[in-house]
Amino acid sequence: MKVIRAIQEMQNEVKKMKQSPKTIGFVPTMGYLHEGHTTLVDEARKNNDVVIMSIFVNPLQFGPTEDFEKYPRDEERDKQIAEDHGVDYLFLPTVDEMYPEQMGIEVSVTDRVDVLCGKSRPGHFSGVVTVLTKLFHITQADHVYFGKKDAQQVAVVDQMIKNLNFPITLHPVSTVRENDGLAKSSRNVYLSKKERDEAVHLYQSLCLAQKKIFDGEKNPAIIVNEVKKYIQSNTSGTIDYVEILAFPTLQPLKVINQPFIIAVAVQFDKARLIDNFIMSADGKIDHIA
Ligand code: PAF
Repeated sequence: MKVIRAIQEMQNEVKKMKQSPKTIGFVPTMGYLHEGHTTLVDEARKNNDVVIMSIFVNPLQFGPTEDFEKYPRDEERDKQIAEDHGVDYLFLPTVDEMYPEQMGIEVSVTDRVDVLCGKSRPGHFSGVVTVLTKLFHITQADHVYFGKKDAQQVAVVDQMIKNLNFPITLHPVSTVRENDGLAKSSRNVYLSKKERDEAVHLYQSLCLAQKKIFDGEKNPAIIVNEVKKYIQSNTSGTIDYVEILAFPTLQPLKVINQPFIIAVAVQFDKARLIDNFIMSADGKIDHIA
């Protein structure tokens, strides 16, 4: 595995790759790698000649009161994990390398962001899309891999690729869970023992919603209400949102009659956790493309 920190060097390598008909699979991350990330690498490895992973904690997507400084980082461990999973190129730029000067041009997102995390994190998705624009240009990837745990990110990137005509195929990959169902996340390390025990109820609340749908409930408001009650009774966290929306458009739904997402976000003391199920109208977990 080659570790590259300079944009120019990454671009030179990509130029060489592009001289032969090789496919490039790209896994953008912010590091502190866990099984959620390595599953993306495994998918990329199966389907591409070359796999590039980036690790970059992108300041542009953090609000002023968010955890940019405190975001967990462990470069040595990450390098080992990336190498063990067959990453060919690990792109590890510094903030100065990515943003040597104040950005005069950024990509702004106006659709699919006034709900879910976009509502409570203004500017977050514009920061994500801006850094991805840079990373897609630098890596010239053919295929990009994202986890469905960040479902709104998947929906926004889907639209970004279409609206801005990036010649890249998006591959959303299923959420990887702990044995008890908790979605894997770099932020789980911030949970206290009590909160870790409670956190499983986010997943359980989604299972409850799915059961309601299997039982024939079609009214999103009723399901949202049940899920909120369940989370409030079983965790000490504060609910940020529980929402049911059409997927991937993230439009409101009056009746569940099309593919949709039920998504939850709960603030614990030091960690805000999110989780979701993307389902078809009959409650089956949907394999969105
Ligand atoms: O999902 C993430 O880790 C980040 O939002 C991403 C896609 C790497 C952009 O910084």
